[in-house]
Amino acid sequence: MPRKFLVPTVAALSVAVTTAAFSGGHGSPEEQVIGARNALMTLYGFNSGILGGMARGNVPYDAESAIAAAENLAAAASMDQMHFWVPGTDNVAMEGKTRALPAIWETPDDYAAKNQDLADAAAALVATAGDGVEAVGAGMGQVGAACSACHKAYRGPRI
Ligand code: HEC
Repeated sequence: MPRKFLVPTVAALSVAVTTAAFSGGHGSPEEQVIGARNALMTLYGFNSGILGGMARGNVPYDAESAIAAAENLAAAASMDQMHFWVPGTDNVAMEGKTRALPAIWETPDDYAAKNQDLADAAAALVATAGDGVEAVGAGMGQVGAACSACHKAYRGPRI
């Protein structure tokens, strides 16, 4: 089973209060939120890149390395994301700063389900990544589909 890295959620805090409570770092609270979620996406991309590289034969297959990348992807996808998708940080509200479509906040359950699809695909890959390069390729097919499904529905241009 993949390890879970769920951050205990402080349920009493409203998301708006959470944003206002930000201090330090660079940019406005909204810009910090956008930066944080893009850091998460960078981790998704980095770990997927290692696994995709193995699947395509660009990186030599190594079981330990494949499992480590899959575990990191699964851990990243299992983070509690409430602070990453704060209302008011969509691409209409934050001109030129983000690709996040307002639809994320219109259908939050579907958005969360699409992230769960990624978490599930990554967890499945943790279990099979040690079984050889074909297994990594098959697992990455599922992971890539989960990335694309969400991007197609919820990522637009910076406007
Ligand atoms: C649940 C939805 C969702 C899933 C799943 C998802 N992404 Fe994203 N991704 C987004 C959104 C929304 C943005 C735009 C964020 C922003 O600009 O504030 C984004 C942005 C990115 C970016 C930044 C590049 C850019 O300018 O858009 C990268 C890289 C990325 N995603 C990679 C991935 C990879 C790789 C996966 C799968 C392993 C993945 N994402 C899964 C929603 C998702």
